[in-house]
Amino acid sequence: MDAAAEIEALRREIREHERLYYVLDQPRISDADFDALMNRLKELEQRHAELITPDSPTQRVGGAPREGFVKLRHSSPMMSLDNAFSRADLADFDRRVREGLAKSQAGHALDAPIEYVAELKLDGLSLAVHYEQGRMVRAITRGDGETGEDVTENMRTVRSLPLATEAATRQRLGLPDRFEVRGEVLMPHRAFNALNAEREKAGLALFANPRNAAAGSVRVLDPRITAARRLLFFAYFLLVEGRPPLPEHSQALQALAELGFEVNPNWKVVEGLPGAWAYIEHWENRRSELPYETDGVVFKVNHVAWQERLGATSKFPRWAIAYKFAARQGVTQLLDIGTQVGRTGTITPVAILAPIALGGVTVTRATLHNEDEIRRLGLMIGDYVTVERSGDVIPHVLNVVRERRPADAREFQMPRRCPVCGGHAVREEGEAAWRCVNADCPAQLKETLQHFAHRDVMHIDGLGPAMVDQLVAHPVTTDGKPVRSIADLYHLDRARLVGLERMGEKSADNLLAQIEQSKRNDLDRVIAGLGIRYVGERTAKLLAEHFGDLDALARASADELQQVAEVGPNIAASIATYFAEPANRKLIERLRAAGLRFRQSRPQRQGPMPLAGMKLVLTGTLPHWSREEATRKIEAAGGQVVGSVSKKTNFVVAGDDPGSKLDKARQLGVRVIGESELQAMLARK
Ligand code: IVH
Repeated sequence: MDAAAEIEALRREIREHERLYYVLDQPRISDADFDALMNRLKELEQRHAELITPDSPTQRVGGAPREGFVKLRHSSPMMSLDNAFSRADLADFDRRVREGLAKSQAGHALDAPIEYVAELKLDGLSLAVHYEQGRMVRAITRGDGETGEDVTENMRTVRSLPLATEAATRQRLGLPDRFEVRGEVLMPHRAFNALNAEREKAGLALFANPRNAAAGSVRVLDPRITAARRLLFFAYFLLVEGRPPLPEHSQALQALAELGFEVNPNWKVVEGLPGAWAYIEHWENRRSELPYETDGVVFKVNHVAWQERLGATSKFPRWAIAYKFAARQGVTQLLDIGTQVGRTGTITPVAILAPIALGGVTVTRATLHNEDEIRRLGLMIGDYVTVERSGDVIPHVLNVVRERRPADAREFQMPRRCPVCGGHAVREEGEAAWRCVNADCPAQLKETLQHFAHRDVMHIDGLGPAMVDQLVAHPVTTDGKPVRSIADLYHLDRARLVGLERMGEKSADNLLAQIEQSKRNDLDRVIAGLGIRYVGERTAKLLAEHFGDLDALARASADELQQVAEVGPNIAASIATYFAEPANRKLIERLRAAGLRFRQSRPQRQGPMPLAGMKLVLTGTLPHWSREEATRKIEAAGGQVVGSVSKKTNFVVAGDDPGSKLDKARQLGVRVIGESELQAMLARK
């Protein structure tokens, strides 16, 4: 195959995988295989620069951050839609359409049912995308409807928006080289939940709902941030010089799909009011099953000639309407604030609410995320609050209705002890979450056991999730209790194990033999097995080598810990906190008694340290890494993450929404890099 053909084949294959991944959420190949395809394409394009086209998947990478957005005028106003909230509102709309047509169009009978196209009303932000010579040249936000902002660079990174369309398809459809597509950009629930979870970890303000998150992601100055957020674009209008080029709206939707745009597949041509109503009823019950948010149904008169006869008011077209589903927001009283402990020990405050029906579901609890969120909301127990529930998104509190605050409203304090085990709760500097530091906390137990047994840690085969579930649920230890800590693994009772579901004598013996064998692991594996935050296998090795035995490590002060290569203040603090917890000290004693190795025997070799001795400052949200991850990687590469920018700072790593640290860096002339540059530095040997 010649290079041109291979490049074309690769592009087609990559586009297909991007669609599977970003649009359908059903990847068929691993990330590594995908990267391999992309790398091969990049390599070929590098060798044959003349074959690079602006629509190649390699060209999606966003350019450099910009200073601001340019305002651009729309080809024709982007109007909004009139709303219907009831069957009667919808009937009024249908009557107005029929009357309007009967008056304006000779021969249209007043009682003839109208053909409408029913579409889901997607809850995102609308956008106009312009194509010239079949290629995407501009994307403009709706703005005030007359003018919007130029977000072309950002939208180039959105995989569901084609960068180019095929000439043959345009020809078949009779479409000129210049056309415009309007549609909705949205963020699917899963991407939204993941984004907020990451922001929460990084101590950043959370997005209130997927729509705000989508809008925030389209309107960032750095296109690399848009690229990292999983946005979807659904097309719903095709325009040539501001007008629909095809006689029917349904034909336009089909044409858009043929051109390679994502068209929401749930549209349907319906007949008159009964058809419209049946569509509403169908989706009212099923909207929670969709992976993105829809807040209603849009009905559009199918015949474009009729649309034009009906015209528009100053605000809305008369030929379309949005029927809004029952609100999923409402006001209710906050009865109390409870707490919940996650598998990694994170203590999350939870709002206990007076029951309220939101979009057909009774809601009694809502997440409050963390202490800062409670402060940001200015929340007191007894307050009336607006609660929102959208699709798969966990209900959350939007705001406090201050005027209704009762006289006996009281402040809430995060507990200083874990509500599950009574262990100490700590909130480390730079973190939003309080967490329980007792490694034996039952809430963390299953995760801890599995980590301990992992092949790269203590390597106990046969201790998978199903087995762990059984061990923590049944009396299996020699003193007739379920497993409550990793130390209990060394006190399992064979006879009791044999009694477990799907556990024969042989598998019990195997498991016990594996556990016995794990005692021979070196100290670094034991340290890694403790599950101390930030202490992975590599750090564990360095610690084992430096201190030589576990007691010395346990006694070390934060300063002493920082003497270890690759251990910065965050890792040091985490280790010191771990060994200060009495419950953890008890655990260590039990592990010693069980016969685990507390002294390191093998000498270790050190790997590359590309950031040795460097001081870095993190600011804003990075596209892929949480603050914690970035810190871990930097410290593992010998660098140190410091809190404020000074002349001694080597680099400032800036992401989305950077704070004043970025200004300071510019003032002092400290070099500012992004995540990708950091990544490149870390990869250096
Ligand atoms: S048609 C003049 N179709 O709803 C026609 N809009 O309230 C205007 N929207 O600004 C747009 N899904 O952001 C149309 N299938 C759909 C839609 C949709 C969501 C949004 C759009 C628009 C707003 C109007």
